[in-house]
Amino acid sequence: MNVIIFYFSSTGNTFKVAEYASRKLKKLGAKVELFNMENGTPPEISVYDKVGFAYPVHAFNAPQIVLRFASAIKPTQANKPLFILKTSGEPLRMNDVSSLKLVSILKRKGLTLKNEYHYIMPYAIIFRHTEAEAYRMYETAKKLIEIDSRAIYAGKCEKISRVPFGGALSFIMRIEQFGSKINGRLYRVNKTRCVKCMKCADNCPVGNIGVKNGKITFGGKCLLCTRCAFFCPTDAIRIGLFNGWRVNGAYSFSQPEKAERNAHPNYCKKSYLKYYREAEEKIASEEDCGNQ
Ligand SMILES: Cc1cc2nc3c(=O)[nH]c(=O)nc-3n(C[C@H](O)[C@H](O)[C@H](O)COP(=O)(O)O)c2cc1C
Repeated sequence: MNVIIFYFSSTGNTFKVAEYASRKLKKLGAKVELFNMENGTPPEISVYDKVGFAYPVHAFNAPQIVLRFASAIKPTQANKPLFILKTSGEPLRMNDVSSLKLVSILKRKGLTLKNEYHYIMPYAIIFRHTEAEAYRMYETAKKLIEIDSRAIYAGKCEKISRVPFGGALSFIMRIEQFGSKINGRLYRVNKTRCVKCMKCADNCPVGNIGVKNGKITFGGKCLLCTRCAFFCPTDAIRIGLFNGWRVNGAYSFSQPEKAERNAHPNYCKKSYLKYYREAEEKIASEEDCGNQ
């Protein structure tokens, strides 16, 4: 079985998920290619048996770069199964509608949704999850991915139900895709902190960061993916109107030796607990099946 997984990942979470799924599918016997959507023109999809899309939820939608990439795919005559792997910082049901636009674009390309999975991974914006939470999220995601990869490989159809009127809210929230361009022009660099390593410019997925007269400049193509600020080694980048939501520094995804203070211990607490409870139930029922 030939599988391709197209992924976009601004701060690495979705890449981790896509890469783990690729490893699991390979273990089951599939030949899997991982394709970064930042790398330009989509390849011919007709040669693959299954096509996967992995993306981080941005304002209850798939990021603009993902929609643009999907639109550039050459349609295939044969109807191919599509699977979606998405990550998001919070377990709100609203995130489930984020794939609606993407699925409708891909349907016109000859790809029909068969499997869709949602994994909670630490926030790249709003606030920083603790290392202990990031570790728990990734460990949970890996166990779920192992189960979900088996379903994808076996051709078992598994879809997510949508919240009522979610499509309308997701449509309204697509305003973020225009707003991010305006906000991008408000990005600034803290001159005393900046060491001109140019990591921000080198890493920007849309080439929006440049240098003019020795100064770092921001153009009008920003996706608000926050990668520049997240990976800045000196936390020198200010992300315009959303600066209060800036998160800086990669997560280690390992179990911390010392507990850290949780900045927002009650934020969506019930939803996170529900996510973990449902995940543990799914993992336990799969383990029971394996033992029978
Ligand atoms: C601009 C932006 C918008 C986001 N919107 C949402 C959202 O609507 N819902 C949510 O749960 N997480 C949201 N997130 C959090 C990301 O989906 C989450 O951190 C994701 O795992 C990041 O994956 P990545 O590292 O692959 O980019 C948003 C992040 C960014 C940068």
